[in-house]
Amino acid sequence: MTILVTGGAGFIGSNFVFLLLEEHPDWRVVCVDALTYAANIHTLNEAFRSPNFVFYKEDIRNREGVCSIFEKERPDVVVNFAAESHVDRSIENPAVFLETNIIGTAVLMDACRKYGIKRFHQVGTDEVYGDLPLDRPDLFFYEDTPIHTSSPYSTSKASADLLALAYYRTYGLPVTISRCSNNYGPYQFPEKLIPLMINNALQDKALPVYGKGLNVRDWLYVKDHCLGILAVLDKGGVGEVYNLGGHNEKANIEIVKIILKELGKPESLITFVTDRKGHDQRYAIDPSKAMKELGWAPTTAFADGIKLTIQWYKDHLDWMRECTSGDYAKYYEEMYGNR
Ligand code: NAD
Ligand code: TYD
Repeated sequence: MTILVTGGAGFIGSNFVFLLLEEHPDWRVVCVDALTYAANIHTLNEAFRSPNFVFYKEDIRNREGVCSIFEKERPDVVVNFAAESHVDRSIENPAVFLETNIIGTAVLMDACRKYGIKRFHQVGTDEVYGDLPLDRPDLFFYEDTPIHTSSPYSTSKASADLLALAYYRTYGLPVTISRCSNNYGPYQFPEKLIPLMINNALQDKALPVYGKGLNVRDWLYVKDHCLGILAVLDKGGVGEVYNLGGHNEKANIEIVKIILKELGKPESLITFVTDRKGHDQRYAIDPSKAMKELGWAPTTAFADGIKLTIQWYKDHLDWMRECTSGDYAKYYEEMYGNR
């Protein structure tokens, strides 16, 4: 069995690579990643020690490059994590989101059609459903909730999902899609809420909370997401969509306060800044289909997962320094300087 994982040098993709090497030591894992700003090749240090792991620095938009990897490796299964993934960056520069998230996905699926595969799995997001109002805690996202996107990021991800379903219907490509809520855990790039706040708090820097901090996200520990994808590969039906989430909704301000408390830092570090444009109010997944049909359920409670995550960042300050060297200071100044 050869599994090709795109975006494996990023946050969730790398955690998925580690899980594969642990759970399926007999599988060959082929990782394809363009190594954008969001990747850190050192994240994969441990994987490089495995004889079953091979890495290609390649852009999924490059048809020729992708096809030559397929020609050589002949994957049985492809799992597509590669994406531009940050909403704030998509607001500043949508074009690359359309190119990687839509065109890149099409290139991969064309290669799957050309060389033949058993499964193409598209890693999707609950953001394709848009948002829910804060005053309706009874509402959730189901797999048949209409697509209703807000940001260029979520729109590009929704387009990729629709394209995947079109390749299933039109060409019979054996596609599955998972749509997950917000992930947290080791190796997340410090532009996203949780690692950014941990990084700033560790340096006694201001914690920039958008608006009033009341927007709600539904948090899932990254390993549980990866186990969910394995369950879809194992038991999921082709042409099907599965929502992955753990009913763990929290307002952003709650998350920030938990981080400060855990690190023993004062709440005076919290700074309310100008809100994100088009800011989605609330995300909340109903994961019943995945639970019933795949027997999947999250195993890490938020109270434990956030402790593990904070400890991981404290233990990996060098990794964080690598991520925040180079262009990060410029990004931070542009995004937060005059906010
Ligand atoms: P990430 O930004 O940490 O990693 C993305 C990886 O993709 C990086 O290693 C980057 O180098 C690579 N990449 C980007 N453009 C590429 C290209 N053109 N060709 C090849 N590689 C490229 O993202 P993440 O948080 O790990 O997200 C992974 C996937 O999961 C994405 O598709 C995202 O939409 C989805 N997702 C993320 C979350 C979340 O909370 N982080 C939740 C639901 C779904
Ligand atoms: P983020 O981690 O970017 O994920 P997403 O927007 O895809 O859900 O943001 C999570 C929430 O945290 C979102 O409501 C925006 C908010 N946020 C802040 O308040 N301050 C920040 O500096 C960042 C990065 C996010």
